[in-house]
Amino acid sequence: MAIRIHPSILAADFLRLGDELARVADADMIHVDVMDYHFVPNLSFGLPVVERLVAGSPLPLDVHLMVDDPARWAGDYAEAGAHSVTFHAEAAADPVDIARGIRRRGARAGLAIKPGTPIEPYLPLLDEVDMVLVMTVEPGFGGQSFLASTMPKLRRLREAVDATGLDVWVQVDGGINEDTIGEAADAGANTFVAGSSVFGAEHAGDQLALLRARAAQ
Ligand code: DX5
Ligand code: ZN
Repeated sequence: MAIRIHPSILAADFLRLGDELARVADADMIHVDVMDYHFVPNLSFGLPVVERLVAGSPLPLDVHLMVDDPARWAGDYAEAGAHSVTFHAEAAADPVDIARGIRRRGARAGLAIKPGTPIEPYLPLLDEVDMVLVMTVEPGFGGQSFLASTMPKLRRLREAVDATGLDVWVQVDGGINEDTIGEAADAGANTFVAGSSVFGAEHAGDQLALLRARAAQ
């Protein structure tokens, strides 16, 4: 199974973003956490920063929208050139409409759920999305501990994806490091966001290699 690692720049040094991107050149995509102080109790960056990242990043961008009104914003991030735009089911009145809007603008559409949100209501929508993100921490902050309680839900999602035969990526985000990535991979994840464990490492390239090896075990 192909494994993808997406370092989250929330854990990068914002003063040296260009250099930080170069440190993770061996990654598959760059994960960009957009937070609006409403959907989550934290604020990060928005469209102007993402537009500059699109222009300057050697890797494609995986934008994770933690915002109250994804129906308003998701299309703009797709249009800005994000390779993938993920929005939260909890904030979406009509997830299918948002996903179609993202795809229509040429980006991959991702649907995210928080640790306490059940996956069942969203399984019938798998053919409308390119990725499902199961949060393994409460969204809002980097550096939190992995919630193993989300693993049964991840397994359920993996079974459903395999049953459809669709190549829907299964992503996990939060607390992913060399000690937790194996458990998430075993439960069916193939796309891993890692913030502090990659950018906090002295040699980010070595850490990426370690994460890949542990996910493949
Ligand atoms: C949390 C964000 C995550 C976060 C992950 O709300 O969605 O992407 O940056 O950070 P770590 O890997 O440090 O848990
Ligand atoms: Zn994220």
